[in-house]
Amino acid sequence: LTDTYSLNNGTKIPIVGFGTWQTPDGQVAYDSVLAALKAGYRHIDTAAAYGNEESVGKAIADSGVAREDLFVTTKLWNADHGYEAAKAALKTSLKKLGLDYVDLYLIHWPNPAAMRDNWEQLNADTWRAMEEAYADRKARAIGVSNFRPKHLDALLKTAKVVPAVNQIFLNPSDTEDEVVAYNRDHGILSEAYSPLGTGKIFGIPELKTVADKYHKSVAQVVLRWSLQRGFLPLPKSVHADRIQQNTELFDFELSDADMQVINGLHGAAGLANDPDKVDF
Ligand code: A2P
Repeated sequence: LTDTYSLNNGTKIPIVGFGTWQTPDGQVAYDSVLAALKAGYRHIDTAAAYGNEESVGKAIADSGVAREDLFVTTKLWNADHGYEAAKAALKTSLKKLGLDYVDLYLIHWPNPAAMRDNWEQLNADTWRAMEEAYADRKARAIGVSNFRPKHLDALLKTAKVVPAVNQIFLNPSDTEDEVVAYNRDHGILSEAYSPLGTGKIFGIPELKTVADKYHKSVAQVVLRWSLQRGFLPLPKSVHADRIQQNTELFDFELSDADMQVINGLHGAAGLANDPDKVDF
């Protein structure tokens, strides 16, 4: 879990992160993040919109893990787009997390309904604030989430810093080939949120067949697939045993043939995103 990818600015990022989307604030978030840090995760992914930054921050503080050994990501919410609002939003997130800096700060969505008419300008303004936060070392890397190529093309027209990361919904049932190829071609790391399809991939029978072959769980095989594709999976769980299980990914390797089997499962759990629906 301490293995790292290098981002396009040279920052090292642990190759598996602990996801906290849909983890309720309070005791559950606190306990699960603490369990993750105990299990060896050194990369925690949260967002202002998840509503759990304070509990995440408290768990980090109580874990005893040194700040420099941790990688913490949070995200700017839809209501906080624009230059001034973005600056204030990062300040608020840092305060809630109890941190002086985040390792990665992401724009959560490119095109929320409220900015449908001026998303290009707003993303450009937001990005300028994020570039300043990056220059001030309040964010050690900056990136985006849920961006499709058209959103990235627009951003890159004015960006001085190329996003380090694009965090997207990415799992065997939604392989997002077009976005992944775009990210790769632009030196942007594809992070996978909902790498287990929010739990829906467990119903795909082919995955059980592959998992049995390696004496691994379906979750482990799917997370291993994500790593072998060069993605950075962010599995979420609130159960200590699963949190632990999702770290045990480094004592086996999927064969090319089994990678192909899993690559072929796009749509198998009915999760494939309609590109027009990801804007909200
Ligand atoms: P729970 O949090 O109750 O453990 P994703 O990371 O794709 O969003 O998926 C998270 C979902 O998968 C949650 O419902 C989580 O449940 C479940 N989950 C996470 N890890 C495992 C695992 N190793 N085995 C079974 N279910 C898991």
